[in-house]
Amino acid sequence: MRRIPVSMLRPGDVLGLPLRNDRGDLLVREGVPLTAEMISSLRRRRYYAVYVRDGIADDVIPQDVISDRVRTVTVRHISELFHLSSLDVGEDRPRTRGAELARARKTQRLLESVRQDVDLILNEVLDHDILTGITALKSYDDYTFSHSVDVAVIAILLGRSLRLRPDELHQLALGALLHDIGKMFVPDEILNKPGPLTPEEMRTMQQHTELGFQYLAEGAIGDYVANHVAFQHHERQDGSGYPRGLHGTNRLRREEHDRFNRSRIHPLAEIAAVADVYSALSSDRPYRPAMPPETLAATMRQMAGRHLNEEVIRAFFATIPLFPIGSTVRLTGGRYDGFTGVVVENRPGQLTRPVVRLTLDPHGQPVEGEEISTHAEPDCELTTPAPTPPLAPVG
Ligand SMILES: [Fe+2]
Ligand SMILES: [Fe+2]
Repeated sequence: MRRIPVSMLRPGDVLGLPLRNDRGDLLVREGVPLTAEMISSLRRRRYYAVYVRDGIADDVIPQDVISDRVRTVTVRHISELFHLSSLDVGEDRPRTRGAELARARKTQRLLESVRQDVDLILNEVLDHDILTGITALKSYDDYTFSHSVDVAVIAILLGRSLRLRPDELHQLALGALLHDIGKMFVPDEILNKPGPLTPEEMRTMQQHTELGFQYLAEGAIGDYVANHVAFQHHERQDGSGYPRGLHGTNRLRREEHDRFNRSRIHPLAEIAAVADVYSALSSDRPYRPAMPPETLAATMRQMAGRHLNEEVIRAFFATIPLFPIGSTVRLTGGRYDGFTGVVVENRPGQLTRPVVRLTLDPHGQPVEGEEISTHAEPDCELTTPAPTPPLAPVG
């Protein structure tokens, strides 16, 4: 099946994968021909892309690294935790002691659930050896929560590829899942602002690192390293990050004399930082669409060294396929100059050069299912066809 922007959907198009909201409720079943009302509803709910069956690559099924069930349950727990704690913000009337206790108990229960979610995610990610990126479909509105799950999944994949020990992987997964928990203290108008932040708003936004760390350190989670992943995920190798301007060495393993240097970024926070940037750039946001894979790759390579840890970036390109299965690509240069196709396979060791099923020739005429490995076509560049115009507001 193919992944297409919601703005390109036409009545009668058939969904290839079910769509759920952030609470896990089924919105539209797969295999159902969409009506104009359903398409309007998807736009109103601010979904950006969906998978459709259109006869071109229906045999190609995109696979998420984790099951729908684990993803949905985890997103729900993070979202509940967020909403529970953000009740503090802007509340001026004093709460009764009973209400306070009940809320503290609920927070503890939710945090325990999040801990169990981490085990489930770890088991599923480590059990499977599928070469896939993030394929889950999300709407803008539940971004913060589904982003947290994405960052955890990508961080585990990177951590496994970097041969972390099981206890380190666990700390990484927990820290990555809760890395943005401090955003619960940032007002919604800033969090979801559909445009650039003012310097003042930016300062408020940046406080999510310290506030998240304090929240976790005050006994909520009790994992020192995971808490520091939340604290340090916006630090940069050259010291230009926040909140403390820590430095990295662009290597993951520390020399003995450097091991306890407190001005260094923790290696697990450096892995989470790469997963965080990838998830952010590859997601549609209210103020910009997702970055096309080829631009994303160039951007991440540019960020390596000064911003992101070079060793982790190398692991990234060796671990995460650049072009998700089902995405449409245009070929430029070489024998297939001007052709269009759909990504149908990502092979180990060739994760930036997928197998593409050709769909249209340079004149826009359909091509009969020929598949080529772009790895064997070094002169051929892969690009994403021009992004569709931003969605007009609906309803
Ligand atoms: Fe963050
Ligand atoms: Fe983040």
